[in-house]
Amino acid sequence: MERLQAAIIKAREKQKGSQGSATRAPGQAESDLVTPPLWSEIPQAELQDRILRRNRIVSMRSDPEATPFDMLRTRTLRTMQEHGWRRLAITSPTPACGKSTISLNLAFSIARQTNTRAISMEIDMRNPSQNRLLGLNRKDGKKGSVGDVLSGRARFGDLAFLGGDDLAFLTNSAPVHNASDILLGDGIGQILADIEADYQPNTMIFDMPPVLVNDDTMAFMQHVDCVLIVAAAGRSTIEEIDRCERELASQTNVLGVVLNKCEFAEGGYGGYGYGYGY
Ligand SMILES: Nc1ncnc2c1ncn2[C@@H]1O[C@H](COP(=O)(O)OP(=O)(O)OP(=O)(O)O)[C@@H](O)[C@H]1O
Ligand SMILES: [Mg+2]
Repeated sequence: MERLQAAIIKAREKQKGSQGSATRAPGQAESDLVTPPLWSEIPQAELQDRILRRNRIVSMRSDPEATPFDMLRTRTLRTMQEHGWRRLAITSPTPACGKSTISLNLAFSIARQTNTRAISMEIDMRNPSQNRLLGLNRKDGKKGSVGDVLSGRARFGDLAFLGGDDLAFLTNSAPVHNASDILLGDGIGQILADIEADYQPNTMIFDMPPVLVNDDTMAFMQHVDCVLIVAAAGRSTIEEIDRCERELASQTNVLGVVLNKCEFAEGGYGGYGYGYGY
């Protein structure tokens, strides 16, 4: 725990010094939206609608299924823009609340807005699921992990792929077992700042592990501006949500709690109800 705290203080100080003046401010004018050359070099992944939808990823287009995510996106981005925040983490108290599903849907929804470039990173390296959710099997997906990039062994451009013109993904092709060592690494603040400078996203979305299971998420909170908590209706207890919120609030700005898997939700889609407050 002491090691974790020392690393957090150190990286905070570094982040203050390195945070990107080169990065576009949220809401910057369209005339400034020139695609950075490095962005154009990221290869497109062939994502299949049928597989995405089977995995509850439904926000690629603006249709009724995407509406709950578009509403969540609008509220989230409004708050982020008011504060000049660009880095958003998605986490939950315990596993399987729907973090990865919501992260990916939110990423597609954000990237659909005009004048927006978004980067989605799967920080949950122990239990990666995004390649499966996106329908990229081992053959299609790039070999490597977010940990390779965050520890400086690979460059973002080596492992990233595009899912549309304005959305880049960095995922894990296999589980990484020393995730907490990687997430406590000294160089992460600078690596993220360099990615922002090179690729100029308006928003970065980080799909995190659950908070109450290990220290990975807390170790990374120093690098984000804000966090959304995903709770599962009928599964997450008030106590768990409270504890999770308190721990996160000691490190970053908690935007609110998204109540997922509500059985009573209309529309037959499994339900994303928002107990979303500040
Ligand atoms: N609104 C919903 N209604 C019903 N099922 C859902 C809903 N959202 C997600 N799920 C399902 O719940 C399971 C867990 O979802 P997901 O992988 O997104 O959770 P997670 O919090 O990222 O899990 P982990 O902690 O393992 O990373 C998946 O099978 C997903 O399809
Ligand atoms: Mg997940």
